[in-house]
Amino acid sequence: MSETAESPSEKRIPGAGEGAGRMERIVNLAKRRGLIFPSSEIYGGLNSCWDYGPIGVELKRNVKEAWWREMVWTRGDIVGLDCSILMHPRVWEASGHVAGFTDPMIDCKTCKSRFRADHLAQSDCPLEKGKRPGECKGELTDARQFNLMFKTFMGAVEEDASVVFLRPETAQGMFVNFESVLATQRRKLPFGIAQIGKSFRNEITPGNFTYRTREFEQMEMEFFVKPGEEQHWYEYWKKERLDWYGRLGIRPENLRLREHEPDELAHYARGCADVEYQFPFGWSELEGIASRTDFDLKQHAEWSGQSLSYFDEETRERFVPFVVEPAAGADRATLAFLVDAYDEDEVDGEVRAVLRLHPRLAPVKAAVLPLLRKGGQPEKAQEILATLRPHFPVQYDQAGSIGRRYRRQDEIGTPFAITVDHQTMEDGTVTLRDRDKTTQERIHESELLADLLRRIHG
Ligand code: GAP
Repeated sequence: MSETAESPSEKRIPGAGEGAGRMERIVNLAKRRGLIFPSSEIYGGLNSCWDYGPIGVELKRNVKEAWWREMVWTRGDIVGLDCSILMHPRVWEASGHVAGFTDPMIDCKTCKSRFRADHLAQSDCPLEKGKRPGECKGELTDARQFNLMFKTFMGAVEEDASVVFLRPETAQGMFVNFESVLATQRRKLPFGIAQIGKSFRNEITPGNFTYRTREFEQMEMEFFVKPGEEQHWYEYWKKERLDWYGRLGIRPENLRLREHEPDELAHYARGCADVEYQFPFGWSELEGIASRTDFDLKQHAEWSGQSLSYFDEETRERFVPFVVEPAAGADRATLAFLVDAYDEDEVDGEVRAVLRLHPRLAPVKAAVLPLLRKGGQPEKAQEILATLRPHFPVQYDQAGSIGRRYRRQDEIGTPFAITVDHQTMEDGTVTLRDRDKTTQERIHESELLADLLRRIHG
């Protein structure tokens, strides 16, 4: 991994390793603090598979909830869906995935490694350090197409007739349910169908932590519009989606929109743009916004023999809607929020690692800390904890110095720390510490819940 972005502070957290790259330090923190673990680690791990730990699962849930809130709850024109991962095999023939969902693959006859032919310039020879495949002594095969869909068998008999695929995208579930949603939800164009769920791709070269994996989660939305209106909605969704990342705290200088060149477009696409984030390993795609014409609905209509069209009551016309699709990755978005939030600074003469996550994304919203383990302070802190717990994730910590306890919370991005001290026992006020400013203010315990909810949700 090359390093292009650097934390504002040149100081390093103790134990992170002098000179360790920013990405490496983030991966270390993620493991150490229970955000992300290698999958099946006690068996040596499984390449490109990761498990979200107790803190990471909350972060990723918050990312998905922020997306759902924005795309479904706060709008009247988008409905949700949760489709099965296994779908009729003909879905993938109609969509073009069986014939064309391939990447060009090259093998090295010498070291037996496998590379994506179009990623050679970013790949490393595992035997000769600093050399790209082909620049080394290894002999490469010609490129050949490799289908990325995972196959499995449905039912007890492993025969061809029962082959099914793990879906490589959630989008097709929305297309094949178009008619059912239309019939049951009484929708008028334009309207959208949104879905969050797992997808699977047998990537040739997964890597960069959770950035490219073989099992991942997508957050996709298919927006159905009248033919002729697709350009307007394409522009609209590009802006909306780029702004979403910014509203949740990603620094503008680390975000950009990249319009695809005409030769990058699928044959049915009128346009496609990627929201990209500047990771320590370079600018990389978080989400694609595509203007997909009427290709998918027409294909499924043809292959299924079912009409997938829309009748416009006003114009008395029947037609196949066009589609604009913002397709994001939940794991990539989570990684981008994590990387962007990671910072190191100095507090009270000590270097700390801190995740400056937007309060809405923070895995734990507040920590309740009794200053002393006596004088009724732990009992009072437990009382406060009980009033906050039904509303959001809160942690209780009474072990170690108060500074050390703040540091522990800073590392997992907890935006607020509530300290119960001697004065609390006299007048019912607590101190409220802000993770980013590290300032403290006194607030009465009766106002705490409303105050925190306002700070978290804005
Ligand atoms: N339905 C369109 C579609 O699937 P895509 O650009 O192939 O488009 C959408 O995928 C998003 O899914 C990507 O922008 C990325 O965030 C996420 N994604 C795709 N492949 C991934 C992988 N191997 N690992 C993690 N996320 C992936």
